[in-house]
Amino acid sequence: MKQELVKQLDGYEAVVKEIETARKYGSDYTLERGMVEAYLSKIHPPFLKLKVNDIITETSTTKTLRLVSENHYLPPFQAGQYITLFVDIGGIRTSRPYSISSQPNQIGYYDITIRRVEDGLVSNHLLDDIKIGDLFESSGPAGGFHFNPIIHHKEMICIAGGSGITPFMSMIREIIECGLDRSIYLFYGNRTLDDVIFHEELVRVSEKFDNIHYVPVIEAPSADYSGKTGVVTADLIKSVKADTGEASFFVCGPQAMYDFCLPEIEKLGVRKGKIRREMYGPPINIWEYPGWPKEVNPDDVFSIKIRGNRTIEAPAGESLLTSLEKNHVVIPSLCRSGECSMCRIKILTGRVFQPAGVPVRVSDTQFGYVHSCVSYPLADLEIIL
Ligand SMILES: Cc1cc2nc3c(=O)[nH]c(=O)nc-3n(C[C@H](O)[C@H](O)[C@H](O)COP(=O)(O)OP(=O)(O)OC[C@H]3O[C@@H](n4cnc5c(N)ncnc54)[C@H](O)[C@@H]3O)c2cc1C
Ligand code: FES
Repeated sequence: MKQELVKQLDGYEAVVKEIETARKYGSDYTLERGMVEAYLSKIHPPFLKLKVNDIITETSTTKTLRLVSENHYLPPFQAGQYITLFVDIGGIRTSRPYSISSQPNQIGYYDITIRRVEDGLVSNHLLDDIKIGDLFESSGPAGGFHFNPIIHHKEMICIAGGSGITPFMSMIREIIECGLDRSIYLFYGNRTLDDVIFHEELVRVSEKFDNIHYVPVIEAPSADYSGKTGVVTADLIKSVKADTGEASFFVCGPQAMYDFCLPEIEKLGVRKGKIRREMYGPPINIWEYPGWPKEVNPDDVFSIKIRGNRTIEAPAGESLLTSLEKNHVVIPSLCRSGECSMCRIKILTGRVFQPAGVPVRVSDTQFGYVHSCVSYPLADLEIIL
């Protein structure tokens, strides 16, 4: 039956003819069976085993972990991509994505640079508990926040906030080390100059290379600071780069920064579709987000019946992914910011809040699937994992 169906496929006869010809002249493709798969899984392994080889203190709140491979070589990546680290903390298995800050032209190690988030579970663990020699499991490199020569201009206007500098560091290091024909205008927002990560390196490379322009923007400057202050606005960008018509825009940092920057960039005449963004996690205080129903309090607790599993309790103000993990129900996840769709679950009954702009496929919406990392219960739910 299967054979009959195969024969109906377009091109079936051509393939059979090719195999016959190859056999006749002594080639046997079956000897190659599995080789392509084996090669692909070497370049894109689903999981990596990493060892902390070095720890570099960057600022009082930020460290870089230099990670080497424990059992494999490290797969190649594109400047701007991230890996997702898996951690066990207090009996809870969870994960967090971190952009690779080192340059892709060397893959002896990956650097990830972590800034402390107040009361943050994983960032505090990575900064306070991790020692040289510790082992991690991670995903392979992932994400689409990278330069694409087919669609992007060679001139890049990059806007970073706080730890959102890391993908741009990888891009800048690659550009200067490989002598790439590309230029970067980096607008980098922080509260104080002491918070700026990689400041000395950025000053040094921008002084040495004409194609790297570094503009720190400080919200609460000290009296002797003479650079740009406030936040990154359209006027501030124009004061450095008057003509942005031939530039591609890249924004990386917390969701709130993107929400502020997007209208500013649009004031420059740039369409939303032309702006690449990487959000560093789900929106903070989701209940303050447009569209959140006023009658639901973030502390309201709902019951979540997992079909074929058990029922857990989850507060409205916490993402379903986090609530599941806290109850030791681990599902696949990668970006934890609504972008990759790895954490999809199906809502059978009840309703959730998912902020506007999450790229859910039309078919997913039709059939009740949501991205659990950015979905919040607004009622009792029944779900399928
Ligand atoms: C693609 C991607 C790449 C990333 N790369 C980096 C990186 O290179 N370096 C880095 O330091 N982080 C990076 N992050 C953020 C990182 O994954 C974690 O979200 C961050 O370390 C906080 O995790 P946590 O467990 O400490 O905080 P959680 O326990 O998850 O959060 C605790 C509280 O802090 C809030 N919060 C969470 N994240 C932030 C934040 N970034 N700023 C302010 N408040 C926050 C939460 O809303 C919550 O209220 C990246 C995120 C994404 C999606
Ligand atoms: S983990 Fe990527 S969309 Fe949820």
